[in-house]
Amino acid sequence: MEKTLVLIKPDAFGKGHAGDILKIYEAAGFKIVAAKVMQMDKRVAAIHYAEHVGKPFYPELVEFMTSAPLMALVLGGENVIARVREINGATNPAKAAEGTIRKLYAESVTKNAVHASDGAETAAREIKIFFSEIEQFGA
Ligand code: RTP
Ligand code: MG
Repeated sequence: MEKTLVLIKPDAFGKGHAGDILKIYEAAGFKIVAAKVMQMDKRVAAIHYAEHVGKPFYPELVEFMTSAPLMALVLGGENVIARVREINGATNPAKAAEGTIRKLYAESVTKNAVHASDGAETAAREIKIFFSEIEQFGA
């Protein structure tokens, strides 16, 4: 089963949208393989966002992602990596299509409600940051 890492970011989680967002993923046919609430610290942010360290938006991104609890998920299913990216919508919510999670719940490019892995290698790398093998359950 293909798997992807999703984060319901501090903005959406803090506003109480986790249930609605989970419902969208489940309605699309995906299985919740792992889930937990946690607060990211700077060290974890630097590992998770390694590709963005040093970019102009990085300090603001880390400030936001470490500001409050988030919900980390592993979702599983057919073509889950690409399909969850579509369901999430464009990074900038102003450009996100109708019905996408970012159109519904994001407030800005930084506070954009959700994260999802962008490819198979990224998914494998990111899942390991947040979950051990024994925290993941098959469909
Ligand atoms: P994500 O990683 O959250 O699923 O989103 P993504 O692939 O669409 O976006 P990515 O390029 O990986 O950027 C990661 C997160 O950094 C913040 N960002 N801010 N102010 C900016 O120009 C800017 N660009 C990116 C967003 O929170 C984005 O989701
Ligand atoms: Mg990304």
